[in-house]
Amino acid sequence: MCGIVGYVGRKPVANLLIEGLKRLEYRGYDSAGIAVVTEKGLKVGRSVGRVRVLEELVQTTGGFEGFLGIAHTRWATHGSPSERNAHPHRGTSRKGDTIAVVHNGIIENYVALKKYLTDKGHVFESETDTEVLAKLIAELYDGNLEHAVQSALREVTGAYAIAVISDHEPHTLVCARKGSPLIIGIAENAYVIASDPSAIIAHTTQVLTLDDYQVARLCAGAADRASGEPWAVEFRTTTIDNVPVSRDVQELELDLQQIELGGYDHFMLKEIMEQPESIRNCLRGRIDQREAKVVLGGLNKLVRDLVRAKRFLLTAQGTAYHAGLIGEYLLQDLAKIPAQCEYASEFRYRNPIIEDGTVAVAVSQSGETADTLAALREAKERGATAIGVVNVVGSTIARDTDAGVYLHVGPEIGVASTKAFVGQVTVLTLIALYLGKRRFLSDDVVRAYLTELEKMPEHIRRVLEHSDMIHDSVARHVHRNNWLFLGRGYNYPVALEGALKLKEISYIHAEGMPAAEMKHGPIALIDEGMPVVFVATRGSQYDKVISNIQEVRARGGRVLAVATEGDDHIHQYADAVFPVPDVPEPLQPIVTVIPLQLVAYHAAVLRGLDVDKPRNLAKSVTVE
Ligand code: F6R
Repeated sequence: MCGIVGYVGRKPVANLLIEGLKRLEYRGYDSAGIAVVTEKGLKVGRSVGRVRVLEELVQTTGGFEGFLGIAHTRWATHGSPSERNAHPHRGTSRKGDTIAVVHNGIIENYVALKKYLTDKGHVFESETDTEVLAKLIAELYDGNLEHAVQSALREVTGAYAIAVISDHEPHTLVCARKGSPLIIGIAENAYVIASDPSAIIAHTTQVLTLDDYQVARLCAGAADRASGEPWAVEFRTTTIDNVPVSRDVQELELDLQQIELGGYDHFMLKEIMEQPESIRNCLRGRIDQREAKVVLGGLNKLVRDLVRAKRFLLTAQGTAYHAGLIGEYLLQDLAKIPAQCEYASEFRYRNPIIEDGTVAVAVSQSGETADTLAALREAKERGATAIGVVNVVGSTIARDTDAGVYLHVGPEIGVASTKAFVGQVTVLTLIALYLGKRRFLSDDVVRAYLTELEKMPEHIRRVLEHSDMIHDSVARHVHRNNWLFLGRGYNYPVALEGALKLKEISYIHAEGMPAAEMKHGPIALIDEGMPVVFVATRGSQYDKVISNIQEVRARGGRVLAVATEGDDHIHQYADAVFPVPDVPEPLQPIVTVIPLQLVAYHAAVLRGLDVDKPRNLAKSVTVE
């Protein structure tokens, strides 16, 4: 989704902002832009397509020399991807000062504001809601940018993270947020802001975050620009009503290496391959074998409510929703608590009934997904206890919950979620065992599961060894435009996830469903050569899955089966077999999803597609 970078300080700003935008490319975007306060006024450059196109524009046109600037990657919502719709947007004050704004989010009352501003004589060049904000700030500007931003935001409804500069105040960057993420880095003699920590980490690990409706004024500069001395930096944080608020400086837990490719061709492949390590990190310190218990410090304060809960309601979108579906099975199976997983976007608008004793669980990698956040707030308002299963530390969902468990799988840069899914399923397994042990599971049973969980990093490593074989099998079918993914029980959500992975990065149409459902209609799709991927591991429904495989074979379909190591029987029915270690059924999704991630990755590469920048997709969907 859209990305923001801003800087005020001692270094020339243009290249620094472009480097920041490159770090945000993974989030998905369609156009980019930059504004710099120069000695000759405000210089703006915008372009459609990749950040490198903007970089070329900045280099070839020149004139972007300055020490204060903002930049943006845009993912179109209002108005098509075009140069004139790209940010920064500008407004001109009555005294002729120019204001530039970059914005993530949506201004919901932009139609009324646009009419008001048009009547005041402002002329709009774009179809965006952001330009309304730029013009509104300009209309209210009388020489104090911070006050103009505060006043404008009091008129606005919607969601925003914004960064604003003016050619009249060459040392001042003002930013604010409501509902969209924004981080302020405190660097040496400078401030750098961004919508995502990956654009900050090269400059500093000292950061501030803002709460909703808060504004920061960041100043860095010298009274005498020519000599550059004495240099002064200061910041001030307020509410949009100009009430001062104090914010603590925090240490960013991220290192540069974690967000670089490290020799892999794509972030997605890197993140698939590093899953043994990321799951080891996710489990670290959480398994106490001696006491046969799960240690989840983040839930301790709510443990009584959670153990007595009458119902768990899991809510999420996309891949996180598939993890939530597995959570539903785990909580019912291991903790014997009624559980249900719902799309956050649907839950919110169906006037949900929340009985006493309901625990709402928001599952999210980014912790910023707008639908998931809104559903969580809705559930809380109706009386649910809210917990988060989130990867990004300090994200909005993490902060909005009563308690939670972080995934600790490290930053996920690849647009297609892989290691976060496995982290989400692992954490949900830990939560189910944490509650199961306190409800009715014997120590022996808990200990047996914990022993198996500790082996997961090694199990995943063994599955990853088959990457080349999976590549060769996929190569035989990659020209086919329709695929099915089928599984039963715990592996039904895994089938959904396999289909989502394939369609989002290879653009092959794929559907996932419970294997038995195929007979109720979709079997009509199967023809000679159609690839059908079965998750067919040994377990309570193995024989039934084998029958489903035979039904597909009888109609000419090509079967690719994820199967248990040592299952020789299945080879007679399948064109390709992807082996996974033999693990208890509730833990199977952690290993069975790995071959499906590799199927999707290899299919996309074989089709010559840009795996890390799939068309139309954004890493974090912060609009509803
Ligand atoms: C698919 C994918 C998306 C996300 C979904 C929720 O690979 O990444 O489907 O899972 O947008 O995102 P988070 O987990 O950040 O809430």
